[in-house]
Amino acid sequence: MKKTLLNYLACPVCAGDIKLNSVSAEEGVEILEGELQCDSCAKAFLIVRGIPRFADLQTVDADKQATAESFGWSWTKFSHDDEKFAQQFLDWIAPVTADFFAGKVVLEGGCGKGRHTRRIAGWGAQDIVAVDLSDAVEVAFAATRGLPNAHIIQADIFRLPLRRAFDYAFSVGVLHHLPNPRDGFKSLVSKVKSGGHMSAWIYGAENNGWIVSFVNPVRRVTSSMNRRALFQLSKLPAAAVYLSTKLIYAPLNQSNSGKQVARHLFYNDYLNYISRFDWREQHSIVFDHLVAPTAFYISREEFEQWWRDVGAQDVIINWHNQNSWRGFGRIP
Ligand SMILES: C[S@@+](CC[C@H](N)C(=O)[O-])C[C@H]1O[C@@H](n2cnc3c(N)ncnc32)[C@H](O)[C@@H]1O
Ligand SMILES: [Zn+2]
Repeated sequence: MKKTLLNYLACPVCAGDIKLNSVSAEEGVEILEGELQCDSCAKAFLIVRGIPRFADLQTVDADKQATAESFGWSWTKFSHDDEKFAQQFLDWIAPVTADFFAGKVVLEGGCGKGRHTRRIAGWGAQDIVAVDLSDAVEVAFAATRGLPNAHIIQADIFRLPLRRAFDYAFSVGVLHHLPNPRDGFKSLVSKVKSGGHMSAWIYGAENNGWIVSFVNPVRRVTSSMNRRALFQLSKLPAAAVYLSTKLIYAPLNQSNSGKQVARHLFYNDYLNYISRFDWREQHSIVFDHLVAPTAFYISREEFEQWWRDVGAQDVIINWHNQNSWRGFGRIP
């Protein structure tokens, strides 16, 4: 943890100021071990292995705990980075571009292994504060360690230990895994300054009826399986996805005559999109779908309502890969 993080922290219990109470280990800009404390209610929060801990996985609700445990395991196993993640991220938050981040104070809701956090720090954000509930924070911390403008905290999106101090907040691939996606969205928006912006990318209900009918029942079983067994088992569907994207979807979509045929293929936009990724990433995507205990598929109408509820202005909502929604808007 860097001392500059204190500029953004507020007590999750009483919203009081948070001060640094003690430091027992430091390395360069990072405080590795120590204690934070609320100036008003005196609640203390530990800094462990460089990460301030505002949530305890043992005490959060059971559904949140199950989701966090699944993803914590997943991101620790699939901790790889890939240069293609930069464009994938920008595709999730379009129309935002990399130069948008320069000088901004940014909040990331559900950072996983920190792949976007690291890039945003490199794109010149003044500061990026990235929050995750799971053990993935350990991987995210390792990915951003020593970067003066990147901050990782372990916290629940519904109980953010933060001030309303952000120019921009975003969440990609997270809200649909929360027990109440709309409240998670509102919680992030509540930390954006007046005139700042918000982006969210979520699974769509439209075109995903087959997942709800066929994958959700499978997921109910696989999400509670032994993780190591699921890791091995998920190689089977991952191999089917990998072979079809590399041997069918990519070649057809890349040739002029093939494109006409590809248009009619099952789930073409998405499967063609992920054909750019190597085996490890495609396996990670398939595993991610099977390990998540909670996944909501949200209609455009419902997503539009979220933005109306927070009074967002100039909202842009697009259909991404014909299976998901991305939104961007200004917070009044
Ligand atoms: C599918 S991953 C996406 C991670 C990252 N946004 C990315 O694109 O690489 C979902 C993440 O949300 C986190 N998460 C789930 N519930 C959360 C909560 N209540 N508060 C904070 N993070 C949460 C999980 O731990 C997981 O890392
Ligand atoms: Zn307090």
